[in-house]
Amino acid sequence: MLKLKFGKSISNEKLRMQDKDEDQLMTQGPNSVQAVPKHIAIIMDGNGRWAKNRKMPRVAGHRAGVESVRKIVKACGERGVKVLTLFAFSSENWRRPAQEVGLLMDLFMTVLKREAKKLHKNNVQLRVVGDISAFSPKLQDRIAEVVALTKDNDGVILNIAANYGGHWDVINATKTIAKKVQSGEMAISDINEAIMDQHLSFPDLAEPDLFIRTGGEQRISNFLLWHLAYTELYFSDTLWPDFDETELDNAILSFSKRQRRFGKTGDQIEAAAGA
Ligand code: FPP
Repeated sequence: MLKLKFGKSISNEKLRMQDKDEDQLMTQGPNSVQAVPKHIAIIMDGNGRWAKNRKMPRVAGHRAGVESVRKIVKACGERGVKVLTLFAFSSENWRRPAQEVGLLMDLFMTVLKREAKKLHKNNVQLRVVGDISAFSPKLQDRIAEVVALTKDNDGVILNIAANYGGHWDVINATKTIAKKVQSGEMAISDINEAIMDQHLSFPDLAEPDLFIRTGGEQRISNFLLWHLAYTELYFSDTLWPDFDETELDNAILSFSKRQRRFGKTGDQIEAAAGA
């Protein structure tokens, strides 16, 4: 178990990774600094295989996956992680058999109904990123209700990526920027990284510090393509329904041992840390 600072609450101001929170850093040995990632993004893979291993229908794996979501949200709060972004349904998941898509939608609805009060009680702020206009009006209303209920909570921000795709996000931002250029509100020369950031999903949150993919595959699968530019990647063979607090701690421990250089040299980073 990692010795980390727990339970910090946050406000909604922009959480930039560059604003180093000194109290989130802890020296463990002469050369190592342990850091808790402020923002973790997870591809929760392996639900289907978990169910298949048990000769159960795939949806049973998704249901078991919800239990892991609950565990990991709580664990993130306890460890001082401020934002947790979960890939619940990708733009490409519509290609799955219609029955599985339907069951996943039913599951989202049930989970939102069942968990809303608990999320609120635990000070979790729920957000949804992605093109939710493709969901049923009922599901869209339910999402809007839970988002409204929890919007002022300053605990963990649980950012659910639903009908989300990295390509969709970049195209969407590009279209909005192009419209602004067309109307004269913006010049082409104004377009830079900060402008792109502002037009993508969650412009007020820092990029993920740590990306975790469970289930053994080692790919990004059109998740946060722009936002993952400098994110540390961690792949676990564990299937999502088996991913627990210990697995999360292993991922955080791996993260804490890495040197993030953001294009600089290791010597520069060490010199800045010693200054
Ligand atoms: C990938 O596993 C998982 C999904 C596409 C769905 C994830 C959904 C949940 C965990 C439940 C709901 C979550 C929230 C936040 C309400 P897979 O089906 O691709 O597994 P496989 O690779 O073993 O087939």
